[in-house]
Amino acid sequence: MAKTDKIIIANWKMKIGIDESLKLAKKLKTKFKSLKGEFVVCPNFLSLLEVGKTLKASGIDLGAQDVFWEENGAYTGEISPEMLVEAGCKYVIIGHSERRKFLMENYEMIHKETKAVMNHEDLTPVVCIGENWDERKTDRRDFVLFDQLQQALSGLDIVGNQQIIIAYEPIWAIGSGTAIEPTEAEYAHKIIRLTLNDMFGMKIVNNNFKIIYGGSINSKNVKGFVGLDNLDGMLVGGASLDADEIFKVAKAVMR
Ligand code: PGA
Repeated sequence: MAKTDKIIIANWKMKIGIDESLKLAKKLKTKFKSLKGEFVVCPNFLSLLEVGKTLKASGIDLGAQDVFWEENGAYTGEISPEMLVEAGCKYVIIGHSERRKFLMENYEMIHKETKAVMNHEDLTPVVCIGENWDERKTDRRDFVLFDQLQQALSGLDIVGNQQIIIAYEPIWAIGSGTAIEPTEAEYAHKIIRLTLNDMFGMKIVNNNFKIIYGGSINSKNVKGFVGLDNLDGMLVGGASLDADEIFKVAKAVMR
C-alpha cells in the first residue's frame, strides 16, 4: 500500500451472518473492480475464510474485528495474530469503542494487542481512539486523544515498513447517523499527528502511519471530508453494509 493511497475499511460488526457476508462480498467484488486505492472488509470471525475465498484476487483485502495478544495457548475463545494471518487477514481492528464498552477492553489490553500484531509485518493494526460525548462537552478531547495514543503505542518499536492505522472515532458520532464536522475531524487528526510526531518522530509518522476517520460516514456526508490534509481514509460501519452506498463512499475518497 503506497503511503499516498487512501484506505476505506468496512466494519461489518456483528450485523450480518455468514450468508449475508458472502452475498455482500460477491457484490463488492464486482463493483470494486475498477476502483484504485485500498479497500478492506472486516466480517465477523466465522465469515473470514469464506469471504476471503470469495475476494481472492479481487484487490479487496480482508481484515478482522479483533485479536488476542498471545500467539497460542490456553485462551478459550480467542484468536491470535498468527491465526488471522493464516486466515488471509491483512488488517485488524483493535480497541474499538464498542469492545471497550461491552467487553471492558482496557488500555493495557489494547496495548498488548497492538504490540502482538506488530510482530507481524503483514498484519496492520487499526487502532481506534476517540472521546465520548461527556469528554467533548467538557473540552477534554485533546487530552483524551493524547492519552489513548500514549497508552496504546508507548514503547512500541516501529521497524521497517510496518504500517499502523489510527482510526479517530468520536464515540458520540458512531452509529448516530450524523458525522462530525469535517473541520473538527481535521483538527483532531492534527492533534493525533502531532502527538505521534512527538512519540515516534516525523519520518516514521510520515512513512508508517495513516490517520483515518470513523463515525456515521455515508455517501452524502463523505464529500465534506475529501481533501482534508490529515485524512488518509475512512472506517465505515453502517454504510458499509450496502454495496452501492459503500461504493459511493469509496469512489468519493479514492478519486
Ligand atoms: P458507523 O460505525 O459508520 O456505523 O458510525 C463506524 C465504526 O464504528 O467503526
